[in-house]
Amino acid sequence: MQNIKLSIDKAFGFISEQNVAGYKAQVAAANAALHNGTGKGSDFLGWLNLPSSIDEAHLTDIENTAKILRDNCEVVVVIGIGGSYLGAKAVIDALSNSFDWLQTERKSPVVVYAGQNIGEDYLYELQEMLKNKKFGIISISKSGTTTEPALAFRLLKTQLEDQQGKAAAQKLIVAITDKSRGALRTLATQEGYKTFVIEDNIGGRYSVLSPVGLLPIAVAGFDVRQLVAGAVTMETVCGLDAKFEENPAAQYAAVRNELYKNGKGIEILVNFHPKMHFIGEWWKQLYGESEGKENKGIFPASVDFTSDLHSMGQWIQEGERTIFETVISIKESNYTKIFPTSADNLDGLNFLAGKRVDEVNKMAELGTQIAHIDGGVPNLKVELPKLNEYYLGEMLYFFEKACGISGYLLGVNPFDQPGVEAYKKNMFALLEKPGFEAETKAIKARI
Ligand code: PA5
Repeated sequence: MQNIKLSIDKAFGFISEQNVAGYKAQVAAANAALHNGTGKGSDFLGWLNLPSSIDEAHLTDIENTAKILRDNCEVVVVIGIGGSYLGAKAVIDALSNSFDWLQTERKSPVVVYAGQNIGEDYLYELQEMLKNKKFGIISISKSGTTTEPALAFRLLKTQLEDQQGKAAAQKLIVAITDKSRGALRTLATQEGYKTFVIEDNIGGRYSVLSPVGLLPIAVAGFDVRQLVAGAVTMETVCGLDAKFEENPAAQYAAVRNELYKNGKGIEILVNFHPKMHFIGEWWKQLYGESEGKENKGIFPASVDFTSDLHSMGQWIQEGERTIFETVISIKESNYTKIFPTSADNLDGLNFLAGKRVDEVNKMAELGTQIAHIDGGVPNLKVELPKLNEYYLGEMLYFFEKACGISGYLLGVNPFDQPGVEAYKKNMFALLEKPGFEAETKAIKARI
């Protein structure tokens, strides 16, 4: 039995319960297509039974490798883009102290990220920050040729070797890449780096429970065994034989497709805790890359409440009625903080004094839900008992499984991303990459 809870009842009133139940047969067929490997993109189903296939030896290898980096580094730079960094960052941020980088008494290295942009100032400032610091690198790229991480790795490899010597650097670089192909694999073999494999059948956005996510998360000091255990629970709950009523992934997939059919083309993932921001970024990639194709697919957006209630709140309350929300709710905070009394009560808020801050946040959450429903925004809710590795593991797998089913309901291949090549092609043409001569000529004629 899973611990996270999906509530879909606040979508009814906008769509009918009967229509959602009408998806049962289609959802069962989509789930079966995933498990039997008969649907579109079936060569990318390595994530499906991944949690339960992770064995002790693999976890020990992850933990031992993490220990080397933890024991020898003040900072670990995770290099990767898209699916090669978003899962790790989402989980690490959700579990970390919000002011982690300022802590002086550290048990774990600070984890920072590179290769997720081409910002010259970002890279300059990163390299300046790393000067005189003991740092290590986890370089993650399935292809090994993605421009952004390849650039960051070139810069940081040289810096690490210059600062700590080639032999020391070799022990502080871990490569996570394809089993046998690609530039990073070749380099790792040449240089003798410790490596982990991204299996051929696991796409980037479904890779958080592979070494791509697990190693950085372990380096940051979090319990990857619990994360995987939570995912295993959800793998079982959402399995092939799970009944529609007991399968949250099936229900979520059905309800969002019914909402889409009824004109709700934008889904907003909402959180009420700032450390969940990157869960929204991870989720947007998962659903955006999986469903946004063939001129269809729900547009995935995300907001951080209550912050964004003071900006995007207006649009959500009264803008075009094409949206629905999925709220990630955390039932219990990890710490206690009480709303203080003020002697002069100038702000008029003494009626809140003595209450838990989380109670105020929860009433903001409930008040927002009711206001948005009144404003024509269907609301779904995913509730986690609290923020820890286990419940996050459940949630990650839940969203992955629901995404696979949902993509099949939509009729697309949820495991490819042909559209991401377009910008690369133009960028290489503009930068006059050898082999792109015709494209260079064509694009230059357009500008
Ligand atoms: O989900 C995906 O497939 C992408 O986001 C990739 O992970 C991303 O483009 C990085 O690719 P690579 O790991 O080959 O560098």
